[in-house]
Amino acid sequence: MPVYYDTTPPDKHALGIGDRIRAERKGNGWPLHELAARAGMSVTSLSEIETDKGRLDLARLERLAAALGISAERLLPRSRSTHFYVSSRSVLQQASATLTLVDYGSGNLTHYHNRLRPLAEPFVGKHMDPIYIEALPVPDDRLSFISHHHEEFFVVLKGELECLLRTPTGLIREKLGPLDSMHFWSHLPHIIRSTSATPANSIHLHCSGDHFVELDQAADGSGAIYFRDESTQTTAALVARRITGARTARGLSLGEFARDLGISARRLSEIERGRRPLPIDLLLKICIRCRRPLDFFTAGVFVAPPYYSIVRAADIDRQPIRAERHLGPEAAELRLLASGLTGRRMYPCYARIHDAEGVTLHEHLGEEFVYVLNGEVTLSTVLHGRPVTQDLIAGDSCFINSALPHRFSGAGLSASGHSSAEALAVYWCPLGQEYLFADVEESSTETDDDRDESAAAERSEPSEVRLMAQPPTRE
Ligand SMILES: [Fe+2]
Ligand SMILES: [Fe+2]
Repeated sequence: MPVYYDTTPPDKHALGIGDRIRAERKGNGWPLHELAARAGMSVTSLSEIETDKGRLDLARLERLAAALGISAERLLPRSRSTHFYVSSRSVLQQASATLTLVDYGSGNLTHYHNRLRPLAEPFVGKHMDPIYIEALPVPDDRLSFISHHHEEFFVVLKGELECLLRTPTGLIREKLGPLDSMHFWSHLPHIIRSTSATPANSIHLHCSGDHFVELDQAADGSGAIYFRDESTQTTAALVARRITGARTARGLSLGEFARDLGISARRLSEIERGRRPLPIDLLLKICIRCRRPLDFFTAGVFVAPPYYSIVRAADIDRQPIRAERHLGPEAAELRLLASGLTGRRMYPCYARIHDAEGVTLHEHLGEEFVYVLNGEVTLSTVLHGRPVTQDLIAGDSCFINSALPHRFSGAGLSASGHSSAEALAVYWCPLGQEYLFADVEESSTETDDDRDESAAAERSEPSEVRLMAQPPTRE
C-alpha cells in the first residue's frame, strides 16, 4: 500500500544502470574483459554500457546480470515510494479538480451537486478513501440518490448537512451540525445536501470492507467514483454486480462463463442484471469457477437494521475512552464515533492526541487516517531506514499504512493550557476493534486536578468553540 513518486521515469543516465554494473563487476574483482567474455560481448560494448553511452536492451541486461550471478532487478533503480501521504489544507484550498461520478450501469458521467476532493488519491491499494466534500443545497425535486460500495462515515466541519438515506423500512432524514458524525451502509441509496444557501463542509470516508476501495473507482486514475443511481437495490442485484465484476476481471465473455457454468448465456445475462433468481448451487459453482469464497459475493449485501449510526457533537465526551491497544493512552485518547453500526470495517474516532515524544513508534495491521481539527500534530515514522517527521496543522490530514512504524504526537493551541491536539482518527482493520483498541479507565489517565481543570475549561468554553479547525474554503 504505497504512494509512488516515480510515475515519470528519469532519463537513461539518471537510472544509474552503468554505475551498478561497474560496481558489481569491481566487487567481483573482474577487469572489463572478464565480464565482457562471460556476458558474450565486446570490451568496447561493455565499456560503453558502463558509461551509459552504449545500446542496452533487456536481453543484454539479463545476460550481464546472469554473468554477475545476480537478478537483473538489482541493476535497475527501485521506485521511490512512501507508506504515508499528507494532504495539506493549503493545497486543498487551491485544488480546483474535483472527483467525477460515473454511473455503473451506463458508464456516463453525471452532474453531482456536491464538490468532492480526494484527500489521499495517490495512495495505492487503500481500503478506505478520505474525501473532503463541499455540500451544496439542492431542492427536493432535484434530488438524485446515489449508492456505492460499501460503508461511509462522515463528520461535519462547518454548516449544517442533511443526509437522506433510503432504507428497506423507509426514508430517513437526519440533520447534522459541526462535529456531528454519521456512519451508514452506502450501498443504500443516499444523498447529502447543505440545509442552507451556504455550502457545508464535511470529511467523508468510503470503505469497501475487506476489498480495496479502488474496486469502486476508476482504474485509469481519472479521479472518478463509480456509483449506481438507483432508487432500490435488491440483494440479488448487489450479488449480481459482484458476479459481473469477477467474470470481467477474468476476461470471460457472458457466453464463455455461461458455458463453464452449464447454463445459457441468456439466463446468465438475466442473473447478472438481477432480473432472475440466483440459486445457491449456481452461486457455489461461480465461487469454484472464480476461486472465490462465498462471502466474496455475499458480504454486506444482507442489509438489516441498524442501517446507520449517529453521534452528536454534544455526546462525544460521553463515549468511553479507548486507546490504541499497541500504544496506550499516553499517546492518544480515543472516543469511538457512531459505534452502533454492526459489522463495519472502519472505526472512526474523535482523538485527543497528546505530546507523545517519549512514546516509541509502533506498528499494527491496517490503515489510519488522521485529520487535524485543532492544534498541531507531528507524524513520526521511518522512511527508507531513516527517521522522518511531518508536521500537520488544523485542516491537514495524513493517510498511513499502519503496518509500518509510526507515532502521532500532538500539541494544543488553547490558552487554557491543554497540551493535546484534537483530531478525527479513522482506522481500517480486518481484525476488528478488539484488536485495535483497549478500554481506558478514566481515573488512570486523569488526576483529580486534571478533571477539575478540564471541567472548568469546559464550563468556560461553549462546545462549538472546541471546533477550531477552519475547514478549507474556496477563494
Ligand atoms: Fe456516498
Ligand atoms: Fe497506530
